[in-house]
Amino acid sequence: MKNWEQAWLVYQPVKDGTEKEIFRTYYIEEKGRYTESIERELAAACQSLFGITPERVSDRKDAGLVLEKNPALQTGEEGFRIRVSDSRAVISSAGDKGLLYGTFRLLLKAAAGEKIRGLDLLEKPENPFRMLNMWDNIDGTIERGYAGYSFLYEKGEICVNERTRDFARLLASAGINAIAINNVNVRDGAEWLITERHRENLKALAEVFAEYGVSMYLCIDFAAPMTIDGLSLSDPLDTQVRQWWKDKAGELFTEISNLGGFLVKADSEGRPGPFAYGRNHADGANMLAEAVAPYGGTIIWRCFVYNCQQDWRDEKTDRARAGYDNFAPLDGQFAENVILQIKNGPIDFQVREPVHPLFGRLSRTNQILEVQAAQEYTGQQIDVCYLVPMWKEVLDFSTGCGKEGDTVADIIAGKTFGQTRCGIAAVSNTGNDPNWTGHDLAGANLYGFGRLAWNPALSSEEIAREWIALQITRDPEALEVILGILLRSREVYEKYTAPLGIGFMVNPSYHYGPNPEGYEYSPWGTYHRADHLAIGVDRSDKGTGYSELYFEKNAAIYRNKETCPENLLLFFHRLPYTYRLSSGKTLIQQVYDSHFEGYEDVEKMAEAWSSLEGKIPQKIYERVKERFDRQKKNSREWRDVINSFFYRRSMIPDEKGRKLY
Ligand code: GCU
Repeated sequence: MKNWEQAWLVYQPVKDGTEKEIFRTYYIEEKGRYTESIERELAAACQSLFGITPERVSDRKDAGLVLEKNPALQTGEEGFRIRVSDSRAVISSAGDKGLLYGTFRLLLKAAAGEKIRGLDLLEKPENPFRMLNMWDNIDGTIERGYAGYSFLYEKGEICVNERTRDFARLLASAGINAIAINNVNVRDGAEWLITERHRENLKALAEVFAEYGVSMYLCIDFAAPMTIDGLSLSDPLDTQVRQWWKDKAGELFTEISNLGGFLVKADSEGRPGPFAYGRNHADGANMLAEAVAPYGGTIIWRCFVYNCQQDWRDEKTDRARAGYDNFAPLDGQFAENVILQIKNGPIDFQVREPVHPLFGRLSRTNQILEVQAAQEYTGQQIDVCYLVPMWKEVLDFSTGCGKEGDTVADIIAGKTFGQTRCGIAAVSNTGNDPNWTGHDLAGANLYGFGRLAWNPALSSEEIAREWIALQITRDPEALEVILGILLRSREVYEKYTAPLGIGFMVNPSYHYGPNPEGYEYSPWGTYHRADHLAIGVDRSDKGTGYSELYFEKNAAIYRNKETCPENLLLFFHRLPYTYRLSSGKTLIQQVYDSHFEGYEDVEKMAEAWSSLEGKIPQKIYERVKERFDRQKKNSREWRDVINSFFYRRSMIPDEKGRKLY
């Protein structure tokens, strides 16, 4: 018995099942790379959905479902066409992978209770890279993991088992085509993943992902030549070091055919990197790029780099500027097989941040957008927070870079500057909990990430509807209730936590729960500088100058407090508590109101959830109910601590006379 569930691949039985005739027989023209996976999926899905075992036939005419490769189709390797008449469905693609994706799409449509007959669909993924970053450690823990322990590692060893395959199925079914299998902070033994010691397991793991078209990446330790082989340095311009990486890449790529390359966090938060030798990021990345190039490998280099030793007296240093200042000057200097991976915002996955100013600036550099499905700062999979709306805001952001098609979505899809190695990555929110994501509703973030990466034009609502129908219920009334919860969850979370874009009011290190000054007296540079009169950091042209990193269209909006979006006001400006917002409310009153409201909203969401008892699978009902109980406590605590903090700083009472602690 599996002790884990199938998430959105649960294939809940379809009662009326008129579609089932189509799936009784299938024909596959020729054996392709993914034929076995396709057949396995068809068998499992049809059994569960319709209670039938589909039979493979050798004559096309006898088949209800036909899978055919057609090089003339404009689908590319991954796209597909699906056409369904009354009695037959045809999935076609120019590539093998397209047939796998097409199969999943058809099955998931049937599973979501959508009408299959009459379907005529041509789909191609928008983003070449649709990647998941696992922050799993080799000892089985997960950095920022909120769904149990790792299912990829146990006690220092890689695990390859049935669960790994189910995971690969989940990824492929959501359209995800790449995975980095270990934490970007490569330590405590993970440095050795690239050595012989782990080779056999690594190969086996890569093979499981290969069966589902997911290319595997490894996070590497930039100092590996020293850590592993005792070299005296890891200078990227040193010949011995360069040779070491060439030999290492040769070994790995020859033995692991499904290896995509390396993901690297260097010179960031204490990780080793090229700076120690007076070299820059381009020197570091290009050295690795040269080593993997003969095998078609890619180096993904992260831009999450900042000085974490900031002196609070220094008001000019601004952590928000760091990614830009480090990487903008290097545009055009990276090898063609290097991709820069840029977090959605300039600080660190807060519930509200402006879009990273590097987007639009790097016209001659490959780039990937990094988002975080793991809810590190957004409720840790205890509080519900559907993140697709947030990611869509980022994707839809118009950078004003002066090109037609200047949104982040355009840029990372390669439309603006013509890159082909580009796309989107998410830090995974998975673990070995039976439901994979701890909070059941966090499943919508994992599925939603894949769907959005495939097609950023899908709406948050469409994605949520699909996911609910697949993983929880097709019952229309229950579905609406869950949809209502998901769609407002991020806004609610924002209301009861750090206000107006100020960020970082969390408990240090583990990042759950309120602590308004948790980071104020540390060197990490995430200050809000609240005193008895005002709060916020002046990041305008008169302050740190951060607003000026944007193209003028956006810089003009951000540098002016009158035009700056309210939800980012304290990110860009330092303002007195008495400052009047466009609504006429004072800033302080807005803080109080939103915190009272946020908690009430949680109560309402929890009540809405309670109405679902008996209408959805009981275990999901109970698990989420338990999370709502915890979310209520958490949001009440946030409300009280934040309001009390602002009250005690400002000594301005709530206009409505509510209780402030
Ligand atoms: C955050 C997170 C760290 C992580 C880092 C990163 O700061 O708290 O755990 O290592 O991001 O993205 O590298």
